Amino acid sequence: MNKIVITNDGSHSIFNDKINECYHSKHGAIVEAEHVFIRNGFSRSIKKDLSILEIGMGTGLNTLLTKQKANIKKVNVSYHAIELYPIKKNVFSKLNFTDLIGMHQQELLDIHICDWGKHNIIDKYFNLRKDCIDLESFTTNTKFDIIYFDAFSPEKQPELWSEQIFRKMFDLLEDDGFLVTYCAKGTVKRTMKKVGFDIEVLDGPPGKRQMTKANKTS
Ligand SMILES: C[S@@+](CC[C@H](N)C(=O)[O-])C[C@H]1O[C@@H](n2cnc3c(N)ncnc32)[C@H](O)[C@@H]1O
Repeated sequence: MNKIVITNDGSHSIFNDKINECYHSKHGAIVEAEHVFIRNGFSRSIKKDLSILEIGMGTGLNTLLTKQKANIKKVNVSYHAIELYPIKKNVFSKLNFTDLIGMHQQELLDIHICDWGKHNIIDKYFNLRKDCIDLESFTTNTKFDIIYFDAFSPEKQPELWSEQIFRKMFDLLEDDGFLVTYCAKGTVKRTMKKVGFDIEVLDGPPGKRQMTKANKTS
């Protein structure tokens, strides 16, 4: 069962009681997403056409923030999100992100309601394709500039932090692409290195000492 909870910056998150883990840091969902995926992900690229893959779309917060930044910076974003357990309308329609970041609720609804398995033109700068599939089975011919790796933690979902999965994500990236994640665990960084990533350890969001940016080329 998914339950809406409030994090310390006032933004909502979801607590999944089957996994017994929250979708975001209790120190602030928006603050965390802005830090890990926008400041150290989206904003690290200078490209004017960006392809982004998100692993675990969940509440749609990273998707929404990226759409907002794409419009501010006039960057054309092709965003591909995969999610194995899409959240239901009675949950996503209650999420409070848009009020807190100066957007309209309809913009979050557009992200959740648009078709799965198809390309959706959300606005001038933002195309979205969502696939309801697990990362293990996901295949595509597209190469991505950035991967937002936002799976549940290695403790809760070790199968998604394996060498095989990191190799798959390495292969899904463009030659100058990179992956960002909130996690900076030693074993995870070693696995990333093993498949060829060049690791950058960055300051973490509030409540977390570090996060990781894994570059395909050094
Ligand atoms: C930490 S939450 C991510 C939160 C999300 N990015 C957000 O901002 O709300 C992890 C997400 O991964 C999804 N997930 C779990 N197992 C998955 C799998 N094998 N493949 C793809 N997504 C998965 C979960 O349903 C959940 O939405």
